[in-house]
Amino acid sequence: MTSSPSRPRRSLLYMPGDKAKVLEKAKTLPADTLMFDLEDAVAPDNKPAARDAVAAATKAGGYGAREIVIRINGLDTDWGQADLQAAVAAGPDAILVPKVETGADIHALDAALTKAGAPDTLGLWVMIEMPKAVLNIHEIAAAAETTRLAAFVMGTNDLAKEYRALWTPDRIAFQTALSLSVAAARAYDLLAIDGVYNDIQNLDGLRAECEQGRTLGFDGKTLIHPAQIEITNEVFSPAPEDIAQAHAVIAAFALPENAGKGVIKVNGKMTELLHLDQARQTVAIAAAITAMDHAGQS
Ligand code: COA
Ligand code: MG
Repeated sequence: MTSSPSRPRRSLLYMPGDKAKVLEKAKTLPADTLMFDLEDAVAPDNKPAARDAVAAATKAGGYGAREIVIRINGLDTDWGQADLQAAVAAGPDAILVPKVETGADIHALDAALTKAGAPDTLGLWVMIEMPKAVLNIHEIAAAAETTRLAAFVMGTNDLAKEYRALWTPDRIAFQTALSLSVAAARAYDLLAIDGVYNDIQNLDGLRAECEQGRTLGFDGKTLIHPAQIEITNEVFSPAPEDIAQAHAVIAAFALPENAGKGVIKVNGKMTELLHLDQARQTVAIAAAITAMDHAGQS
């Protein structure tokens, strides 16, 4: 699978799968991706009802251009196998699996998806939220070469619990996990999605954490409340001046006098062919965002 920016993944909103009203409300929200959750947000007694509600909502559709991801319970739980069958049958864009720890886990999940009849186009996304996943991040990412693996989603709440670490505004306890996950994702052409920000009322704190995630290289951020979408979309969109510079770089390298050159000056800045690659990526992401916004996600 490729993580090329054919669609934006700035804002990825989780919602509890057993809340019908919330699944309905999502049809009106400007999130790029909707994450229908069967795992952490659903109490054990409600797991079967959530599975049925999420499968029905996914099949019924009405979510416009928004990407649909179903987070199932782990295959080693009482609910995981039934979740996987129901999720594959419902036909989302991707299935998100929690608590993976090894490359072998990825191969086993991919085989289970194939056995359940999943098409090759179904994305396998996994949560990076276990200490062993952080230590095994290279072999987990490398499994993408022969499987559907397409994205890493940081599970910072579970990481905090497992590490026995404290959350601080600078997220110092998680910096290693965050940066290693981005490095491994990029090495194997995976999406890298940042963890959630729990303090729903604190929009300044959310913005700071979005900016930190963007600085670290993440494509977007998982969210827990609609009030978090707008800021996240803004921070993870290329800034207008960056888009203008990208167009200038592409135009400059296209000039006949710059043909065959490896380094030129554009608007006073040293610009190499690697910057041309980056410029093309920025323009592609900006175009994907414009297309998404024009689709109105509806
Ligand atoms: N997705 C879609 N809609 C949501 C939403 C979400 N994650 N969270 C809240 N809403 C909706 C509510 O249904 C409500 O809709 P309404 O105005 O039509 O009635 C509106 O947004 C305002 O909600 P609010 O009253 O502020 O929040 P709440 O007290 O109902 O819910 C939470 C708070 C934290 C329980 C809820 O936001 C939530 O469940 N978040 C997701 C949790 C999750 O999925 N966790 C797993 C991953 S970490
Ligand atoms: Mg978790």
